[in-house]
Amino acid sequence: MAEVVGGLFTSHVPAIGGAIARGAQNDSYWKPFFDGYGPVHQWLAEVRPTVAVVFYNDHGLNFFLDNMPTFAVGAAPSYANADEGWGLPPFPTQQGCPELSWAIIEHLVENGFDVSTCQSMKIDHAVTIPLALSWPGGERAPLKIVPIAINTVQHPLPSAKRCLQLGRWVGAALAAYEGDERIVVLGTGGLSHQLDGERAGFINPEYDHFCLDKLPKDPDALTRHSIHEIVELAGTQGVEILNWIAARGALGQKVHEVSQTYHIPISNTAAAVMLLETEAARAARATASTLPAYA
Ligand code: DHB
Ligand code: FE
Repeated sequence: MAEVVGGLFTSHVPAIGGAIARGAQNDSYWKPFFDGYGPVHQWLAEVRPTVAVVFYNDHGLNFFLDNMPTFAVGAAPSYANADEGWGLPPFPTQQGCPELSWAIIEHLVENGFDVSTCQSMKIDHAVTIPLALSWPGGERAPLKIVPIAINTVQHPLPSAKRCLQLGRWVGAALAAYEGDERIVVLGTGGLSHQLDGERAGFINPEYDHFCLDKLPKDPDALTRHSIHEIVELAGTQGVEILNWIAARGALGQKVHEVSQTYHIPISNTAAAVMLLETEAARAARATASTLPAYA
């Protein structure tokens, strides 16, 4: 049976890709930010997940304003990256996991989430940067992925409540999956940021800390704000918190916090990384020899 091992929540600012491409991780601007991923690397080396289910928003690479699904699940054998306009060298193509994708899709549609299904799909910086941060070195991340895109770009956006519910049904699909996988869930984007308009550069540490405090133990608290309230609190692009909320939903009730860092700013964004692990992963780590070996 499959096992959900934990959740990794991280910003996906494209400038991070530029820093990686230039090898600038130890520059004074970048070092405190990249250092936040040390505990993530250590945890991943111990837990060795075999699949990542990635909740993210596409920024115009795969979907554009004329063709914008509210929720879209990747069901492709592989996912290529391309430059959607930031000038970054393309990241490696990632292997998909169509069997798990279809198990998730079946479960979602059965339970009232009529998602778009994408048997061919490109992944943008919102998937590639988190993978490059988590598995550094320039090679493709050593696991399969299932990308789940949430529209945080073109209004009307799905409510926070709906995104949490989506994540909970994904979690139910993962728990029922018979494939022998260790699954890590990713939520990417945020925290507060606004890239354009009168409030360009807006950051709100108070709301960010509310999210970081509530997400582990009381994610429903984040669903009390309407989309318009979240835009006001977090900025127009800060609504990417919807991806974190959905990812948290997939982890089940009880999680343990492994690490958390918050760093202002990276580019225009309040950058954060938080790692949560499930009860099962915590127990397995306590007796490391019980983890089965995966190739
Ligand atoms: C920035 C942040 C984002 O989430 C994004 O998708 C693009 C740019 C930024 O802060 O520069
Ligand atoms: Fe973004």
